[in-house]
Amino acid sequence: MDYANIRSEKIERVGLITLDRPAALNALNDALADELWHALDGFEADDGIGVVVITGSEKAFAAGADITAIADYGYMDAYKGDYITRNWERVKTCRKPVIAAVAGYALGGGCELAMMCDMIFAADTAKFGQPEIKLGILPGAGGTQRLPRAIGKAKAMDMCLSARMMDAAEAERTGLVARVFPADRLLDETLAVARGIAAFSLPVLMMIKESINRAYESSLQEGLLFERRTFHAAFSLADRQEGMKAFVDKRPADFRHE
Ligand code: CAA
Repeated sequence: MDYANIRSEKIERVGLITLDRPAALNALNDALADELWHALDGFEADDGIGVVVITGSEKAFAAGADITAIADYGYMDAYKGDYITRNWERVKTCRKPVIAAVAGYALGGGCELAMMCDMIFAADTAKFGQPEIKLGILPGAGGTQRLPRAIGKAKAMDMCLSARMMDAAEAERTGLVARVFPADRLLDETLAVARGIAAFSLPVLMMIKESINRAYESSLQEGLLFERRTFHAAFSLADRQEGMKAFVDKRPADFRHE
């Protein structure tokens, strides 16, 4: 598939998706969401990929939903068209780790897309916000749910009600962002981390991701049980055997992702 709104490339075991609608600061329209879905599907199915990175431009990760495209929507357009649900959330169902590398604006749906990823690495220029209130609407791609889980209720209320932006330093301090890099190093540093993660055993990465996500969906007791069962299952992996044997033999492990 030829993409018009994103770029997609493989860098060793890392799948890199670059949102590429510069004239609209990567605003998320239907075509972009469909292409993102397609690219994620491809990387998910590719045994040669262990981690996906989603990034934008220097100026914007994404400035939100494409306001021009939805300005004339009525309720039936949104409801019957299954707006957001129809094609935005493929990243949420990815079983492989997905990292958002954010420089510049991550606003509205852009901030929500970043939060659907497993972790966010930010440039020191990054600005996060949920400014939907200024448009007379509310966040609709998870902002009112993921933001409080990431940064707590008080700051989430502040961001969504006042529409203020949060800079990278505050985003890291409050837990929205895992790491901050100088803007000109963001992609290189993110890819270096992604390559390191992708070299580990893919089935174990998937098990870790699934187990951490379970922490948000279950009681502590249920989550601990899920982790224990998954931990026990990991003893069946050839990579588990190789990892421990390599340690005992004092040599680097050679994971085969099985
Ligand atoms: N939708 C459509 N076009 C957008 C856009 C968006 N969300 N954000 C920016 N653009 C367009 C602008 O219209 C402009 O196009 P033209 O050159 O054709 O006029 C171009 O991108 C550059 O933008 P600006 O000239 O505004 O750039 P700036 O540097 O002055 O400001 C900005 C940057 C602060 C991000 C500003 O563009 C802005 O406020 N954008 C809207 C942000 C927003 O409200 N996002 C939430 C959208 S609603 C949503 O996301 C709902 C949801 O939860 C799913």
